[in-house]
Amino acid sequence: AHTPLIDPFARPITYLRVSVTDRCDFRCTYCMTEHMQFLPKRDLLTLEELDRLCSAFVGLGVRKLRITGGEPLVRRGVMEFFRAMSRHLGRGLDELTLTTNGSQLARFADELAACGVRRVNVSLDTLDAERFGRITRWGRLQQVMEGIEAATAAGLRVKINTVALKGFNEDELFPLLDWCARNDHDLTFIEVMPMGDMEETDRLGQYWPLSDLSRKLEDRFTLTPLAERTGGPARYVRIEETGQKVGFITPLTHNFCESCNRVRVTCTGELFMCLGQEDRADLRAPLRASEDDAALVAAIRDAITRKPKGHDFDYSRQQVAGQMSRHMSHTGG
Ligand code: GTP
Ligand code: 5AD
Ligand code: SF4
Repeated sequence: AHTPLIDPFARPITYLRVSVTDRCDFRCTYCMTEHMQFLPKRDLLTLEELDRLCSAFVGLGVRKLRITGGEPLVRRGVMEFFRAMSRHLGRGLDELTLTTNGSQLARFADELAACGVRRVNVSLDTLDAERFGRITRWGRLQQVMEGIEAATAAGLRVKINTVALKGFNEDELFPLLDWCARNDHDLTFIEVMPMGDMEETDRLGQYWPLSDLSRKLEDRFTLTPLAERTGGPARYVRIEETGQKVGFITPLTHNFCESCNRVRVTCTGELFMCLGQEDRADLRAPLRASEDDAALVAAIRDAITRKPKGHDFDYSRQQVAGQMSRHMSHTGG
């Protein structure tokens, strides 16, 4: 019915990431401060508003929908929303998925599978319980492990996302690989991005470039770069010795903006055209102004005409020019 969304750089926008809450039961140090001020509930989009918004995007050609947070599974009624979104699968939408810290997966894995979710991305930076407690400030590793097991038992593929942190998990590169190989999980490493409060934790000191990490891998294994993309930003290699697939998300050392296919909506209905830019469009106002979606669709189209060529992150300057005061939990990663 609608012409699809194409940005000024001829990139089709087919991937929508939607944050359904800014809340989380953990406080990962690179993501949140210990005492986060969460948003008042009335500022959040309701489940009905989220439904209208995502459905409008599907109508505009979005084929992949990733639910994020905060921690998406702590939003009350979130399963209702997943069930609602599942009606689009096979009718425009190819994939419905989520990125989660895994803490609630034991409870929800079966329902997610029943909603047509095929894979989940679980954030896990360490296999050591003490370190896990430290990086998440109070998370219990065992709870996440049980969540991952439940997801696997429910037939979901699990991809592990590990933020590479110097002085924290450098020595866990091979243990993490082994563990993922044994459990048949895909694994992706992410470069830590300069977002949120930079004073509290030394984000720049924690910066561990993935080029160094892949050199370590190459010393031990034969790596074959894979052409396949999941529609996400990761580049993948296969480790010939184990047959394992490993992904790298390297916004800083190798940015992937030229093939960017995605936009993000925050839990308050702000549309961000890029994770590393401040420009945004308010979609909550048109949602609340009218039952009809015409104004909403117009606001989305208008925003897409402003999608920038790339992000502003930059570690190379003395002061971090591209540092975002925004927290990752706000835009959903
Ligand atoms: P799949 O490829 O479908 O598995 O998903 P994905 O990698 O797009 O999603 P996931 O939520 O696992 O993303 C992992 C992390 O990569 C995010 O939380 C962000 O930290 C980072 N990331 C994802 N998309 C972008 C992007 O467009 N720009 C930047 N700079 N980072 C991104
Ligand atoms: N840099 C890189 N990744 C981050 N994440 C959260 N904050 C940051 C950051 N500053 C990641 C989490 C999770 C995903 C949702 O975003 O570890 O994998
Ligand atoms: Fe929560 Fe994920 Fe942020 Fe950690 S990184 S505090 S699990 S939203």
